[in-house]
Amino acid sequence: MNIFLIGPMGAGKSTIGRLLSQELKLNFVDSDKVIEERAGADIPWIFDVEGEEGFRNREVNIIDILSDEDNQVLATGGGAVLRSENRSNLQGRGTVIYLQASVAQQLERTSRDKNRPLLQTPDPSVVLHTLMEQRHPLYMQVADVVVDTERRNPKAVVTDIIAEL
Ligand code: S3P
Repeated sequence: MNIFLIGPMGAGKSTIGRLLSQELKLNFVDSDKVIEERAGADIPWIFDVEGEEGFRNREVNIIDILSDEDNQVLATGGGAVLRSENRSNLQGRGTVIYLQASVAQQLERTSRDKNRPLLQTPDPSVVLHTLMEQRHPLYMQVADVVVDTERRNPKAVVTDIIAEL
C-alpha cells in the first residue's frame, strides 16, 4: 500500500500522516525532512541559497525516489503539485489523499513556524489565499480522495481516510 498526502501548509499532512501510518502499520515518510537530510541543510537555507526553483528541483528528485517505494504514507510539501513530474508520479504510484483546510485554519497551524520561507511575510494570509487559488485545481486534479481537516480531531480524519481506501 502506498498513500500520498497532498494539500497546503497547515492542512495537517504530518500529524495525520504519522497517525495514519501507525493505524495501517506503514512507514511514515515526510518528503521535506528527506530533502533536508539529503541537503544537509534546512528548507529556509535551501530557499535562501538556491531559490524556490532550486528547492523544487530537489523536491522532484526526492519525490521520484520516495514515491517508488511501497508500504508507506508519504507526506509531500504543499507545493509539490506545482511540478507535473510530481503530479504524474503521485497519481501513478499510489492513492492520493488531498487534506483540505481553510486559510484561517492553515494560518493557525503555521503561525509560530519559522521553517516555512513562503510565510515569512508581514501578511501570510494573503500568501496562503494566493497559493490556494493557484494550487487547489492541481490538488483536485491528482486527488483520489478529498478529506476535510478543518477543526477536526486528527483521529477522526484518519478514520475517514481509512474508510475511503
Ligand atoms: C511549501 C510547503 C512546505 C515546504 C516548503 C514549501 C509550499 O511544506 O515544502 O516550505 O510551497 O507550500 P509543508 O506543506 O509540509 O509545510
